[in-house]
Amino acid sequence: MEFAPVAKDDELQEGHPLRRMVGAEAVALFRVDGQVHCISDTCTHAYASLSEGKVEGRILTCPLHGGQFDITTGRPVHLPVVEAVAVHPVRVENGQILIGYESGEDEDYD
Ligand code: FES
Repeated sequence: MEFAPVAKDDELQEGHPLRRMVGAEAVALFRVDGQVHCISDTCTHAYASLSEGKVEGRILTCPLHGGQFDITTGRPVHLPVVEAVAVHPVRVENGQILIGYESGEDEDYD
């Protein structure tokens, strides 16, 4: 797994998600109770951009059909969403937010 810097720590405010790219994937960054969380930006229901959703505490409401996820676990908490969204590991170092992702270069195909 690699970690890529995607934003400055002070850019990310509670209730105001950021959309960023890591590798080939769009991800959404959230600050919940001071902690940074990162999930895939793509809703598992019908591919809406989750960074455009509404945030209340740790609950994210998808902008398209109102499905809800727990930002901290990626788990669905309200229909029509039934599939979890991918969660990415986060590091905050030297004022930068870094997101972990699989680059695909270290795959073992045996
Ligand atoms: S696209 Fe997210 S709930 Fe339908």
